[in-house]
Amino acid sequence: MRVFCLANNKGGVTKTTTTVNLGYGIARAGYRVLVIDTDAQCNTTYSLTGRMDQESTLFDVLINGTKLTEVIMPTQQERLFLAPSSINLSAADLLMASAPGRERKLARALSQVKDFDYILIDTPPNLGVLTVNAFIACTDVVIPIALTTYALIGIGILERTMQELRDNLDVELPIFGVIANLDDHTKLSADVLGAVREHFGDRVFQTVIPSGSLAKSCPVKQPFGSSEPSEYVEERCKQWWHQNLPHDGAAHRPDPGVHAAFHPR
Ligand SMILES: Nc1ncnc2c1ncn2[C@@H]1O[C@H](COP(=O)(O)OP(=O)(O)OP(=O)(O)O)[C@@H](O)[C@H]1O
Ligand SMILES: [Mg+2]
Repeated sequence: MRVFCLANNKGGVTKTTTTVNLGYGIARAGYRVLVIDTDAQCNTTYSLTGRMDQESTLFDVLINGTKLTEVIMPTQQERLFLAPSSINLSAADLLMASAPGRERKLARALSQVKDFDYILIDTPPNLGVLTVNAFIACTDVVIPIALTTYALIGIGILERTMQELRDNLDVELPIFGVIANLDDHTKLSADVLGAVREHFGDRVFQTVIPSGSLAKSCPVKQPFGSSEPSEYVEERCKQWWHQNLPHDGAAHRPDPGVHAAFHPR
């Protein structure tokens, strides 16, 4: 089971939009997907359900010890499930400050969950206890980056934090890839993309997401399911599928029908 954590401590870099679109696209490709919303802003939760007042949420899991399986809910998309967030999680840093094993609570909760092919964790725009929990719980990190001014500011502290966790908490925390988004085809976007590629090398996915393409097809902060996924989703998922298949083996292959539909181009 691959667990992808979408993280960038900089705000508004499309973590949530990417998580939601990937979740939808991967589920459409025939996989069972669980999206976990660790951000108290609840944007992923709202995007997938149209609500942010769920009765049982990740707050109950992390603070009250409720089982993760008890808060997971279906979405309008077949095979796509959500562990919703709660605005109460905005107090998580304080509430979990003295909890023993606080960095591993999500990882422990996830160990009870078996029947998903992919888990995608959306994280808040900071490196607090919730993001750290997502790092410890994941098998791979995906870094969404917006091709705007100051895109790489903050990346240093993100990388340092990840290295600290690797050194001190015995986790591998590999960077699976960097998704560049919000390309508006200006010189600024091109320059920033150049800098991002210089920094991350071939870990930057080749597909760069143009500004406008996602928002139009699947707006975050609107109930999900009312719009068709974008070409981006299919392209991105195809890329992920190709990259994941050799690692995941037969157990994670979609059925032949999905396979045929997924590789026509
Ligand atoms: N390709 C795109 N084109 C235009 N707008 C986009 C695109 N992708 C995302 N957006 C918009 O950019 C804004 C920020 O995206 P999003 O909320 O996903 O970022 P985030 O990193 O999750 O933010 P936060 O750090 O607050 O959680 C949203 O309004 C979203 O609709
Ligand atoms: Mg977000």
